[in-house]
Amino acid sequence: MKKSCGKKYGFLTAVILAALGSTGCTGGSREAVQTEAENENIVIGFSEVGAESDWRVANTESMRNTFTEEKGYELMFNDAKQKQENQISAIRNYILQAVDYIVFAPAVEEGWDEVLQEAKDAGIPVIIMDRMINTEDESLFTAWEGSDFYAEGVTAMEWLEEYLEEQGRADEEISILHVKGTVGATSQIGRTEGLENGVAAHENWEIAACLEGEYTQAKTYEVVAEYLETDTDIDVIYCENDNSAFGAIQALEEAGISYGVDGDVIIISFDATEAGLTACMNGQINLDVECNPLNGPRVEMIIQQLENGETPEKYSYVDETYFVPEDLTEDLIASREY
Ligand code: AHR
Repeated sequence: MKKSCGKKYGFLTAVILAALGSTGCTGGSREAVQTEAENENIVIGFSEVGAESDWRVANTESMRNTFTEEKGYELMFNDAKQKQENQISAIRNYILQAVDYIVFAPAVEEGWDEVLQEAKDAGIPVIIMDRMINTEDESLFTAWEGSDFYAEGVTAMEWLEEYLEEQGRADEEISILHVKGTVGATSQIGRTEGLENGVAAHENWEIAACLEGEYTQAKTYEVVAEYLETDTDIDVIYCENDNSAFGAIQALEEAGISYGVDGDVIIISFDATEAGLTACMNGQINLDVECNPLNGPRVEMIIQQLENGETPEKYSYVDETYFVPEDLTEDLIASREY
């Protein structure tokens, strides 16, 4: 897909040349504009969900570190501040600027068909990363790569079953407080489904309540603190990311309720960021299921395949694991990239 003349400046150049023509500028100025037009970089328009979590920051860094000018890329970046409408505007803007590729991490699954049809009509390949979209027309995107969020939820439930057995609590009534991530995001949908299926398979497990933590520490702290005012009899808090786990921990501390390895409330988290694993190593988080944010190199592989005329896999899942306190050391945490 690499153009002999990068497309990024195509639209702008046309506008500028038209303006120069109408104001009677000299041929020298035209040459200067045309030189700018010979941009051979691969131009990528990237719309990121936001900066709601440590994971997200690591994801953005991975993209920035991968798509550098030294490697022949130009990365245009948009922070959508967790709003789908901002992502749609950014994608329209990238279409207008005729970028070579559009890459985006969708805030939510629904509502992308129209703008992706516009990208398709403009002939711009779209690569989706991290979360997925819900569409009946798979031709609207070239490839997706990211995590199997449902599998992450299943891992958490299998671990909980085994952990309770080891603790001699297999037959106890288990009350789980569920803190959802951004409602409608694939990561929320998958992890929630994993939890719900796990609970359905154990007649002595129940979901005490389902709160919306929006993947942030602040929101989770707010909703968990409020919940604990009326119910403190919970055994597990299922937090759909590390930042939510930090918010839940903050609320538990304030309420004087013990948690973690030596406490009353089991904390389950997702992401396995540096801060999350440190809290896990210290016994504050009982289980941290990995969600790998290093999407930059994986997106680059897809782009390079397209540049070489190859057809990338339509869907690629990254391998992930999970961590419990006894697995963790400072060296192990320091050796990871996020
Ligand atoms: O979609 C991935 C999720 O989004 C991560 O678990 C979370 O931290 C992020 O905000």
